[in-house]
Amino acid sequence: DLSVVGCWCSSSLTSARCPHSYFSFYDKELCFSLTRTVKEELGRKSPQDPKLPTIYIITPTYRRPEQMPELIRFAQTLMNVPNIHWIVADDANTTNYDVVDYLTYSSIPHTYLLTPMPEKYKQLSIKPKGVANRNGGLMWVREHATSGVVYFADDDNTYDIRLFQEIRYTERVSMFPVGLVTKAGLSSPVLKNGKFHGWYDGWIAKRKFPVDMAGFAVSVQYLLKMQNAEMPYKAGYEEDGFLRSLKIEPEEIEFKADKCTKIYVWHTQTKKNGPSQRTILQSKYNGTNLRILEKKMMIES
Ligand code: UGA
Ligand code: MN
Repeated sequence: DLSVVGCWCSSSLTSARCPHSYFSFYDKELCFSLTRTVKEELGRKSPQDPKLPTIYIITPTYRRPEQMPELIRFAQTLMNVPNIHWIVADDANTTNYDVVDYLTYSSIPHTYLLTPMPEKYKQLSIKPKGVANRNGGLMWVREHATSGVVYFADDDNTYDIRLFQEIRYTERVSMFPVGLVTKAGLSSPVLKNGKFHGWYDGWIAKRKFPVDMAGFAVSVQYLLKMQNAEMPYKAGYEEDGFLRSLKIEPEEIEFKADKCTKIYVWHTQTKKNGPSQRTILQSKYNGTNLRILEKKMMIES
């Protein structure tokens, strides 16, 4: 189940690939205007403050029509957060250059990993989504980080940048509310007089930690101490399994977001889009801009 099959590190990519082949018959100049990065364009890279602990943000992603808009929306949030390292872990066997090029453009310190879901889980009706990705990200953190904080951030959620201020000083494991989770509308620890009292979640089941993936953070130092901590391939029990493997008790958790009275992250879900119909392939569009746009789309086979 060890499944990091490839990796692009930010250091190995100094400038965006120039997809000349897309433009040779249309407009060569376009190519150069498109490869200016945020750093070049705005004279600004991601803010760095060496005094701040680094937040390692592990984001599972996979190819689908809404993948790029999700990643762009999230990246434009992360551009406003200092000292982060964004680990984008792709459920794919081959590099998605749209993603890699966009990450370079974003000027956010990042690593792109190929972390495909093992074949045996793809056949299940309820799949353990994002698990290979998150475990691959954890492997990378264990190899490259010595301090800081790890946060699992799905590509489709909505994040208030204040969330990152809250989790940056996690000592072991911190938790906080997540909006729009299940019909209950919220997943949150319940506190009474500032102390742990229980859980609020639409699906408690037999979970010791009935929380959402976006509702907790772990310090790197604590993670490194817990050498066997990882996420199980068990749909619905990923968070619970991972938190149990951290050997932490609810009473020991650090409750953030003003003692769990603020919502800084929402489990938003984007409408699923099927592949686009094939009209764009019609020969009447040959020699037009649509021949370029077509490459960025998923089209019905
Ligand atoms: C819910 C929970 O909120 C997630 O925290 C949990 O990971 C997920 O269920 C789960 O089943 O494990 P939900 O919105 O239903 O989230 O799931 P998605 O957003 O579709 O997927 C979670 C993450 O995994 C996303 O970042 C997505 O890009 C990624 N993913 C999804 C893959 O990498 N591969 C897939 O085949 C599907
Ligand atoms: Mn989601």
